[in-house]
Amino acid sequence: MKIVLLGYMGSGKSVVGRALAEKLQLVFLDLDDEIKVQEGRDIPEIFKTLGEIYFRRKETEVLQSLLNSDKDFVLSLGGGTPCYGKNLQLIKNSGETTLIYLKTSLEELKKRLWREKGTRPLIQDLGSPEVLEDFIRKHLFERNFYYNQSDLIILTDRKEIGEIVAEIQQELS
Ligand code: S3P
Repeated sequence: MKIVLLGYMGSGKSVVGRALAEKLQLVFLDLDDEIKVQEGRDIPEIFKTLGEIYFRRKETEVLQSLLNSDKDFVLSLGGGTPCYGKNLQLIKNSGETTLIYLKTSLEELKKRLWREKGTRPLIQDLGSPEVLEDFIRKHLFERNFYYNQSDLIILTDRKEIGEIVAEIQQELS
């Protein structure tokens, strides 16, 4: 069984993924972390020195090799992963994979991401919460087309991590 979590930056993919993997006794993998390890530098550094196109290529390469492996896992994608190249098709075509969208409201994403934007290359230079909100709104409009092709959509607003995990487990059973 391979469980793949997607959603916008700040939707809780990593923290939910880790908790879900623990519950299901599966290995947890985070695509950004896998890229970081392979490249020997963190994501903002890769964007800065090698550019986004390089990052997107690497992202596809690492995703493909994880999907090709025989191992079972819970994998958290980056927010943009399903929206580039053939990534979404790669996931959907690889058997035994359940794709889950963690859907968080614009209002909640704005709150979370304004606090954390320093570590995120795509938004770190946005100057005010209002500009950030416009950016996320436009991005979600473009990305929802991909996100909505998931097998399962879980709303995350006002839910504890444990509640989200329990809801996913129930849907999977
Ligand atoms: C990105 C999201 C990030 C990371 C990169 C690009 C995006 O991952 O992959 O900064 O395009 O939305 P998280 O969603 O885990 O923050």
